[in-house]
Amino acid sequence: SDNLVILGIETSCDDTAAAVVRSSGEILSQVVSSQADLLARYGGVAPKMAEEAHAQVIDQVVQDALDKANVKETDLSAVAVTIGPGLSLCLRVGVQKARKISGTFNLPIVGVHHMEAHALVARLTEQELQFPFMALLISGGHNLLILARDLGQYIQLGTTIDDAIGEAYDKTAKWLGLDLRRSGGPAVEELAQEGDAESVKFSVPMKQHKDCNFSYAGLKTQVRLAIASKNINAEIPISSASSEDRRSRSDIAASFQRVAVLHLEERCERAIEWALKIDPSIKYLVVSGGVASNQCVRARLNHVVTKNGLQLVCPPPSLCTDNGVMVAWTGIEHFRVGRFDPPPPADEAEDTI
Ligand code: KG4
Ligand code: ZN
Repeated sequence: SDNLVILGIETSCDDTAAAVVRSSGEILSQVVSSQADLLARYGGVAPKMAEEAHAQVIDQVVQDALDKANVKETDLSAVAVTIGPGLSLCLRVGVQKARKISGTFNLPIVGVHHMEAHALVARLTEQELQFPFMALLISGGHNLLILARDLGQYIQLGTTIDDAIGEAYDKTAKWLGLDLRRSGGPAVEELAQEGDAESVKFSVPMKQHKDCNFSYAGLKTQVRLAIASKNINAEIPISSASSEDRRSRSDIAASFQRVAVLHLEERCERAIEWALKIDPSIKYLVVSGGVASNQCVRARLNHVVTKNGLQLVCPPPSLCTDNGVMVAWTGIEHFRVGRFDPPPPADEAEDTI
């Protein structure tokens, strides 16, 4: 019975995503509709607006995912959907859609934790990846270091005490006047390539805390002050900045990125040391979540991880940022061991949960 075909639906933040995946690991389709344009126009996520944007595209996104996979609802083994964490108004759009399909076609439904999905998708891309493994999950809202001992058995080694690294990237992009029609992280990464990473002396967060937690609020403040001291005006887009102004901006981007990533390196190094004491059989550190698509993050962490005797597993960028594949795959992992819910009665499927 391991020839499963699962539809995954993800609406927890600002992307509406769906995918169809087989239990063999074959990705039959992957569709993402981004609200980046909307976010750029309004300067951030307003929950009500995000909900409406999801609601407008959800039917089409799911239909496209089924069409591209060349499957019908009746071919599916189950429907998986992100149930948290995230904006509840947004999550509900995905959950209602999943319940409707599940009720209409009498399919089991698997509720998926968004962060677990970021971690487990690495087991789709790297078939060798067995439990136990460590995972660093870095996104706009989360900064988590976990030890995954088995499916559903996760020990938290560290989390952020304030902001996540992706939030720091996004604010830095905004204050540097970068084009926000796509998300801030890639824009800062690109600009950083032109800059001198040693030029602005930002201090590494939490040096005095000998634990595995993270903090990015202080670094954000340091960036804001550096931007003010260089008289950088975010109202002037970088495309219209003078060459001197552009150089200051790229120096700040590069210096920010160096320290933001150094903080990850230091925490991972300590976490590996701890985790190997709990379980010396650990062989892998997974890095996933939107920020894991950053090349500097990947290269630096690969260095730390291999130096400490482990292997880095980093899914391709399209599976690091929010996507439906990770939800479908996590649905498969849970479904296989019997963790799923029966479909709601068809006439109740459209009721609010
Ligand atoms: O996992 P994700 O798509 O959504 C959340 O669950 O939050 O992560 C989005 C975050 C954003 O903060 C975005 O700026 C960041 O990931 N990000 C990056 C890069 N690509 C996405 N940060 C740095 N460098 C990148 N290349
Ligand atoms: Zn995410």
